[in-house]
Amino acid sequence: MPKNVDWKNLEFQYMQTDSYLRADYREGTWGDLELCKDPHLSLHIAATCLHYGQSCFEGLKAFGRKDGSIAIFRPEENARRLIASAKRLVMEPVPEELFIEACKKALKYNRDWMPPYGTGASMYLRPILFGTSPHVGVHASEEYAFILLCMPVGPYYRDGFFPVKAMVQEKYDRAAPRGVGNIKAAGNYAAGMLSDMEGHEKGYSICLYLDAATRSLVDEFGTSNFFGITADNRYVTPESTSILRSITNKSLQTLAADFGLKVERRNIKVTDLANFTEVGACGTAAVITPVYSITHGDKVYKFGKEKEAGPTLTKLYKELQGIQYGEIADRYKWMVKLV
Ligand code: PLP
Ligand code: COI
Repeated sequence: MPKNVDWKNLEFQYMQTDSYLRADYREGTWGDLELCKDPHLSLHIAATCLHYGQSCFEGLKAFGRKDGSIAIFRPEENARRLIASAKRLVMEPVPEELFIEACKKALKYNRDWMPPYGTGASMYLRPILFGTSPHVGVHASEEYAFILLCMPVGPYYRDGFFPVKAMVQEKYDRAAPRGVGNIKAAGNYAAGMLSDMEGHEKGYSICLYLDAATRSLVDEFGTSNFFGITADNRYVTPESTSILRSITNKSLQTLAADFGLKVERRNIKVTDLANFTEVGACGTAAVITPVYSITHGDKVYKFGKEKEAGPTLTKLYKELQGIQYGEIADRYKWMVKLV
């Protein structure tokens, strides 16, 4: 049972809840989901996840809603993306039904940890998949573990929906055009840590990566997709083989079209940043992070006001959060309610 959780001041960080779910793939089949309590694992010292990075994950949220219900935002999209990640890393994909069942069970068994409606918090679900068989030669695992843990989280940025400064990372690339940037491989995040750390030291909250092949096109931020709004009402987001297909971005594109914006998925030259009146970084954790400026070498691109998110980003943010919290009709059936 949670004791004294300050729902309104939660951070985006790990918190131990009552239990998590685990299923193992052995001898060619997925076993049943088991409810586990001990957050420590027993793992073979030669497991492929430890040596060769056979590990991928997802991140999605469930919301305590206005009508008292609890609903998960587009879990089937995350299930499918985990399948794509698994296939690329030669891992056993988790069937979509098993994934959804794990999400629902995690919420059911951790009901007391579900942030109440009106607190601005939500329940973050973190599914992970990793190879557990011992191999020292580079070889795919025969056995896999699928774990789904959950924890209540507050907004990703403490100050909330507030513009940040970004820089174009020129020293490091995030992903190669035919590499693994388009899947949620655990190793992608280790690869970005040094870059993020150096960016923070220079005073930038987030780093923007360019395409590794030509270094002339916008790819994405380290943990979120890029989108920009133009003065003539276009929602522009990169088309690239090395970016993660963000479910938040996909949803915002739908909402942007509803608002009458023309949605364009295309190459964006870094010099075209000058054409945007608003820029956002989007992802599950923060939904939208407004970006006030992007520094590229000695050039600084600025978008809107330093201390206030632009009108289109604000409208999109409110609409998506409104749907998630059940304040606005779920016209696209994105929310999967717990029965
Ligand atoms: N891009 C990267 C590299 C990410 O890690 C994430 C976070 O999941 C996103 C984009 C946003 O994706 P989504 O909206 O599905 O959370
Ligand atoms: C997101 O959910 O937006 C993320 O980027 C997940 C991150 C904490 C790895």
